[in-house]
Amino acid sequence: MEAKIVTLPGDGISPEVVAEAVKVLRKVAEVYSHTFEFEEALVGGAAIDATGEALPAETLTACQKSDGVLLGAVGDPKYDDPRAPVRPEQGLLALRKGLGVFANLRPVKLYKQLLHASTIKPQIIEGVDLLVVRELTGGLYFGKRGRKTVDGVEAAYDTMFYTVPEIERVVRVAFELARKRRKKVTSVDKANVLESSRLWRETATRVAEEYPDVEFESMYVDIAAMRLVRYPNVFDVIVTGNMFGDILTDEASMIAGSMGMLPSGAIGAHKPGLFEPIHGSAPKYTDQNVVNPIATILSPAMLLRYSLELEGETQAIEDAVQVVLEEGYRTKDIREKGTTLVGTREMGSLIADRITNGG
Ligand code: IPM
Ligand code: MG
Repeated sequence: MEAKIVTLPGDGISPEVVAEAVKVLRKVAEVYSHTFEFEEALVGGAAIDATGEALPAETLTACQKSDGVLLGAVGDPKYDDPRAPVRPEQGLLALRKGLGVFANLRPVKLYKQLLHASTIKPQIIEGVDLLVVRELTGGLYFGKRGRKTVDGVEAAYDTMFYTVPEIERVVRVAFELARKRRKKVTSVDKANVLESSRLWRETATRVAEEYPDVEFESMYVDIAAMRLVRYPNVFDVIVTGNMFGDILTDEASMIAGSMGMLPSGAIGAHKPGLFEPIHGSAPKYTDQNVVNPIATILSPAMLLRYSLELEGETQAIEDAVQVVLEEGYRTKDIREKGTTLVGTREMGSLIADRITNGG
């Protein structure tokens, strides 16, 4: 197979981890005789520095023409001034919107080798394997926002806005995926307070009727947050809005031991998808060869699965990660007594070296 993959190295530690993901993809190409062509483009702070824009038009065009997009993370304290006219995060949101990738799949799987790396008790998290489907191109992130003066004082507002079709399409993605898993969908909202959540719940409940073979429940987001760390095994597929999904997945990453373990893949009605770790750009660790590249390495594994439909190759990457963990290699974030500490580049090479053509 020939595929064109756009890589967006982004900010902070992101170029380092993206380089490791590319290393692993090159190995996959070699072992399985594929031709992956890589094209690098700018987004986020790196793009602002070079062009003044967080998402240059040529980046979006290159991404749209590709077979899949691999992104690290964006964000830099340099742009944290709340009054800054352009922010790196705007580039990311514009990219998600521009590619129409409305469903963000964030699998939370606990590798058994990391059972004790989590701060949560092993008996609570053992066996966790859940999938959060986060709505990615609507809700509070894209609703009307602004500042105004009310009764002589400065005020600001954001709006949580969802249309029925936006809710239906992402809920359908969740049900389709649940059919291939343990056949349970939990829709998360705040319908006891928010009107947009009442519409979400109504719509999700109606879509659920199309899937009588899948168990369905709705849950308030505060309860879901509590259950995630108390009874995480009750979940199979969670579907939720943009903001709730952002928060719940950082929480859920603690089950897997570290933010550095969670990949994500955003898909829409058309190709290409956008694949990125759930973590941020961690600027303070930049260029120290200390961060965990596994989340970023597992993200293109999702690219192979969802954009290129190469299941064997996807499995090869996931297996290689498993093997390296089994051999006791750990980056700092998941380090435990009796394991071997390695840097970002070493971890990437170890995983690449263990890619084999099992089938
Ligand atoms: C994520 C990140 C982004 C988000 C930030 C960087 C804008 O936290 O992908 O979860 O909020 O979506
Ligand atoms: Mg987040």
